[in-house]
Amino acid sequence: MNFEKSNALRARLHRLIPGGAHTYAKGDDQYPQDMAPIIARGQGCRVWDIDGNEFIEYGSGLRAVTLGHAYPPVIEAARRQLELGSNFVRPAMIELECAESFLEFVPNADMVKFCKDGSDAVSGALKLARAYTGRDMVAICGNHPFFSVDDWSMGVSGMPGGVPAVTRALTLKFNYNDLQSLENLFNEHAGRIAAVVLEGEKETQPALGFFDGLRALCDRYGAVFILDEMITGFRWHMGGAQMRHGIKPDLSTFGKALANGFSVSALAGKRELMQLGGFDHDRERVFLLSTTHGGETHGLAAAIATMQVYRDEPVIDALWQRGQRLADGLHAAATSTGVADYVPILGQPCCLVFGSRDLQGEPSQPFRTLLMQEIIRRGILATSLVVNYSHSEADIDHTIEAFAEAFVVYRALDEGIDKYLCGRPVKPAIRPFA
Ligand SMILES: Cc1ncc(COP(=O)(O)O)c(C=O)c1O
Repeated sequence: MNFEKSNALRARLHRLIPGGAHTYAKGDDQYPQDMAPIIARGQGCRVWDIDGNEFIEYGSGLRAVTLGHAYPPVIEAARRQLELGSNFVRPAMIELECAESFLEFVPNADMVKFCKDGSDAVSGALKLARAYTGRDMVAICGNHPFFSVDDWSMGVSGMPGGVPAVTRALTLKFNYNDLQSLENLFNEHAGRIAAVVLEGEKETQPALGFFDGLRALCDRYGAVFILDEMITGFRWHMGGAQMRHGIKPDLSTFGKALANGFSVSALAGKRELMQLGGFDHDRERVFLLSTTHGGETHGLAAAIATMQVYRDEPVIDALWQRGQRLADGLHAAATSTGVADYVPILGQPCCLVFGSRDLQGEPSQPFRTLLMQEIIRRGILATSLVVNYSHSEADIDHTIEAFAEAFVVYRALDEGIDKYLCGRPVKPAIRPFA
C-alpha cells in the first residue's frame, strides 16, 4: 500500500491547520508513521484515500456516521432541502418537524434545542443547570474522558492549557459505579454543585441500581442530572442509553449519529429547565444555544431522514449483531494466535474498542501502533471497532481475517517490537505536550 500523496500533503496540512486536522482524534499522530491516509471519498462502510487505497473503515466520522457514508435517503433529503434554501431570517417549518420527530425518540424530554456540535449541547445543559440552581460547581464522571471542548470540561482533562485556574476549580470528579464518591462531593461542597454529568455507559456496564441511586442523590442534594448521549444516542437504543437502561436524567445531550454525520446536535430535557432558555417565565432568562447555524435546514433534513431510517429499519439490532459477530470472531482469532490477553476486545457490541498490551500486560502505544500498521496494510482503517449499519457480514468477516493475520505479527512480540514496528508510536490525542 502506497501513501505517497497523503504523506506529501502532511506538511501543508500542519502549516495551515493546527494539529493538521480539525479534530485531534483524526490527527496523523493517531496513526502509524507515514500511514495516515487523507480521504477522498466514502461510501457505506468504505473509504478511498487520495492515493487510491481502499479501506473498510470503523468509527466513521468519530462515531457520527451510524448508517454509512453517503447514505442515499439521508443525502437525498439534504439535497432536496438545499434547493429550498438553508438559512432564513425566521425559523423554517423544518425546525418544528425535526423537534417533533426527535422528541418521539426521547420520551424523558419535553423540549429540545438544536445546535451544531455536541460540546455546545453539553455546555448549554450545564449553563441551564447553573442558572436553575444558582450554583457554580459541576461533578463530572472522572472515568469518562470528554464532554465538551469548553473550559469546564477541558480544564480538568489531560490538556488543560489556556483554562483559568478559577474555572478548573469549579469542576469536580467522581467515579463511575461509585455512588459514595459522588455523595462525598455533595458533602464536601455542600450546596455548591449545580449538576452531575456523565455518559450512560462506556466499556463498563452500569451496576444494578447505579443510575437509580444517582438520580436519588441528585434529588436529595438539589443537583441537575445531565446525561451525555453523544456516543450512546442512536446506537445503544434509538433513544440512547436512557432508554436501554431506564435512566431518568433531567437533561440529555445528543449529536453524532443524530444526522448520520451532518452537523446536528441537541439539548433535550424537562420543560421546567429548558424553558429558562425561552421567555414563558418570570425568572432571569438564560442565553441558551442561540447560534447562526443552529437551524440550518439541510442538516435538520438529514436528521429527519436519519431518524426515519431508524424507524423503518432494524438499525439498532443490526449494530449490536454485527458488533457481536466482530467481537466473537476477533476473540476466537486472538485466542487461537495466543494474543487474547494482549489484545482485549472491549465494550458493548455496538461500540467496540481494542486494547493493546505489552508482554507485561501493560497498555502499550507501540503495540497499538504495530497492530494498526498491520491492519492498515490489510485494508482496515480502524482506531476503534465501532460498526455502522453498512458493514455487511462479509465486511465483518474480512476484518476478522485481516486482524487474524495482524495477530500473528503481534504474537512475535517476544522477539522485540522494533523488529516489526516501522516508525514512531502513536500518542494519546489529548495530551499536554507534543
Ligand atoms: C461523550 C461526548 N460528549 C461530547 C462530545 C463533544 O461532541 P462534539 O465533538 O460534537 O463537540 C464528544 C465528542 O467526541 C463525546 O464523545
